[in-house]
Amino acid sequence: MKPTGIVEGIYWIGVNDFETTLFEALWPLPKGVSYNAYMLIDEKIVLVDTVKGPYFPAYLDKIKSLLPAGKKVDYLIVNHMEPDHSGSIKVLREAFPDMKIVGNQKTAGMLEAFYGLKDGVVSIKDGEILDIGAKKLEFHMTPMVHWPETMMTFEKTTNTLFAGDAFGGFGALNGGIFDDEVDVDYYEDEVLRYFSNIVGRYSSMVQKAFDKLKGVDIKIICATHGPIWRSNPAHIIELYDRWSKQETEEGVVLVYGSMYGNTQKMMEAVATGLVQGGVEKIRVHNISTSHLSFIIRDIWRFRGLVMGSCTYNMELFPPMKQLVSAIENRKIVDRNIGVFGSYTWSGGALKELQEFASKSKCAQVLPVIEAKSSPTDEDIEKCIELGLNMAKAVKSPTC
Ligand code: FEO
Repeated sequence: MKPTGIVEGIYWIGVNDFETTLFEALWPLPKGVSYNAYMLIDEKIVLVDTVKGPYFPAYLDKIKSLLPAGKKVDYLIVNHMEPDHSGSIKVLREAFPDMKIVGNQKTAGMLEAFYGLKDGVVSIKDGEILDIGAKKLEFHMTPMVHWPETMMTFEKTTNTLFAGDAFGGFGALNGGIFDDEVDVDYYEDEVLRYFSNIVGRYSSMVQKAFDKLKGVDIKIICATHGPIWRSNPAHIIELYDRWSKQETEEGVVLVYGSMYGNTQKMMEAVATGLVQGGVEKIRVHNISTSHLSFIIRDIWRFRGLVMGSCTYNMELFPPMKQLVSAIENRKIVDRNIGVFGSYTWSGGALKELQEFASKSKCAQVLPVIEAKSSPTDEDIEKCIELGLNMAKAVKSPTC
């Protein structure tokens, strides 16, 4: 994709990545991902963020195509040092040796640790303004959205916020780059999957960033991934605000682990109870085949969570253990939780699930069901009852 003008003097010079299968070597990218970077042309020439290393040639081509004759790049603003954005800094400096690299004190430490760069690094402070001609860049420190050095840069004359990872999501840009050019619904699930898996753990810091930016009149949001929000920035701000407050919707995620179909029968009975109880939004995940990131995305969204697991080597089924750990890592603490399990020659799974459920701020949804080998008719009736009780819990939240 060619460089695209955003407003007078500000251009998108990002790239799409359709090759990487796992972002951060962890998260599947079925729709690809974009690494957004920006170029400001004023008295000074300024770049905001770079792209992942292998995409440097395409990025450099875009810079050169926009660079006015006789000009060089004066500044690179580094809002975030994760290598999907900083990976081209070293070679960019080689292409423009006089270019100053602008970040904060923590950025400076990371520039040296990652790339051995010390010279020509300018450390700015919160609220400082860089005058680049007609345009003025104001820096806002927003630590832990997503790393300690993360900051945002606000161009005051066009009200454009270069937001780093905040407001970004998975999904390559398919032709259009603006929210009014793309199908926003297509991106929204991937924005939530990005948020819940990568930024969600730091939700309290997202809220602090919101507090800091309260007086800032933002008209355009340029994130480092996904669409640029120029027509309706309030929409993505509202979503991020809601998600970072862990506000949930009426609906239930049903995750189960089943080796031979017996625990699956229990899951289906719970789902029957949910439907009888009037729950419309039910998301079923087989823990052995759904990638963790999609399960976390749905758990982040919905109020109810039912987990059912077979026992494996006297413990919780291994992928279910991983999910429990991922939920705890992301500090998801206020869901209505119900659990069930199965065993044949030793228990184990249910005990671990109950320990997990007991940590929720919400009262556990009952009954707890444990089947020996294959669920009896009575077990199935109890699973339906669990579904019905969960329906009541998510429809009348008390926590
Ligand atoms: Fe897109 Fe935290 O890097």
